[in-house]
Amino acid sequence: MEQTRVHGASQTKFLLDESQLPQRWYNIRADMPTAPQPVLHPGTGQPVGPDDLAPLFPMELIGQEVSEEPEIAIPDEVLDLYRLWRPTPLYRAHRLEAAIGTRSRIFYKYEGVSPAGSHKPNTAVAQAYYNKREGRTRLSTETGAGQWGSALAFAFQAWGAEIVPSPSEDTQSGRAILADHPDSPGSLGIAISEAVEDAAGRDDTAYSLGSVLNHVLLHQTVIGQEALAQMELAGAFPDVVIGCVGGGSNFAGLAFPFLREKIAGRDIDVLACEPAACPTLTRGVFAYDFGDTSKLTPLVAMHTLGHDFIPAPIHAGGLRYHGVAPLISQLVRDGLVRAEAFLQNDVFASALVFAGSEGILPAPEAAHAIHGTLQAAKAADEAGEERTILFNLSGHGHFDMGAYDRYFAGQLEDVALDEDEIARALHAIEGLPVPA
Ligand SMILES: Cc1ncc(COP(=O)(O)O)c(C=O)c1O
Repeated sequence: MEQTRVHGASQTKFLLDESQLPQRWYNIRADMPTAPQPVLHPGTGQPVGPDDLAPLFPMELIGQEVSEEPEIAIPDEVLDLYRLWRPTPLYRAHRLEAAIGTRSRIFYKYEGVSPAGSHKPNTAVAQAYYNKREGRTRLSTETGAGQWGSALAFAFQAWGAEIVPSPSEDTQSGRAILADHPDSPGSLGIAISEAVEDAAGRDDTAYSLGSVLNHVLLHQTVIGQEALAQMELAGAFPDVVIGCVGGGSNFAGLAFPFLREKIAGRDIDVLACEPAACPTLTRGVFAYDFGDTSKLTPLVAMHTLGHDFIPAPIHAGGLRYHGVAPLISQLVRDGLVRAEAFLQNDVFASALVFAGSEGILPAPEAAHAIHGTLQAAKAADEAGEERTILFNLSGHGHFDMGAYDRYFAGQLEDVALDEDEIARALHAIEGLPVPA
């Protein structure tokens, strides 16, 4: 152990053997001090049952959505596919630490080594597997910057998805939005409406969500379980765990296994980072709301900016969502997770400090976690403390070269969202059921 620690002080990559791939997903519902609120049918106001969800999802995933088992076995077929890129590496960011002159230790878990370049295949593969087993041959979905869409296409082993820019003329939801807002920049909420409408109208098609739902967050927990083992290899344990939050899946993937430790009594600061242009956790309200813009989904209790809030077209497509995972909302309410919001120029500046020292160009979404990390290191230095900080580098930025170009050209706008716009958007949830 002593030898490992000594070596660990200069080591950069902490790697697990394939035999150490987690065999189970971790379900935080079993350990949460407050149970999440039930999902409600918008027509009746009553909790939805499996039959309500069956047109959209396979039964196995509906079971996982409501499961209270602490652990769920990962099917062998899914493990076989995970082995194409998992376990993913954990890095000690020696060069970043030197670049910013911090006394803290910084580690990051790198999910960009997956075939699609992000954490998204962790759930795409599982969702495709369960859908295929239950006879579905087609999946519809939303995507922001393209990471989730490409991950799902990969899971179907074809990379042959049909891609439709949203809002589109192909669905009623899309046509209605275009009629009111011909120049709509789109959003994840709108794309979800279109994908749900597509799936509901065809027997061969299920809907697949890349984030937000309990089963999606569950599938991502392989990230944090691996990171726990890798931090042990490094002879370290994080004081701070950081992730970016759009719908919440990569954040949950890293943080939930550490929150299990926190709930059991360990002292960890768990930080969710979001864009100031879409500040769901920091400025939204906790309320029942629709998961999509056209009100086709059930009602979920979460932090929300209102289902018709259309975030400014910032260059972090995967973070442009009006709501957030109900599990994360509840953990924020219970004080187990805290959140901060950042402006995009600050985020891109931090992304380039990282790229310049560690070499990896981060996805703009993940760069929010990098910015949070640099802030946390600075705060520790100012307090005269040495902290161990772990963040999730959820994907690489190769889909986002245009965004970096625009940053270098000084063309990225910082959006300061005013209170009036938030108040306007929140009118949309008036009259909906109120969480207990
Ligand atoms: C690389 C990357 N990170 C983060 C996100 C945000 O999603 P989530 O909050 O579900 O991790 C996305 C979404 O598209 C993404 O592509």
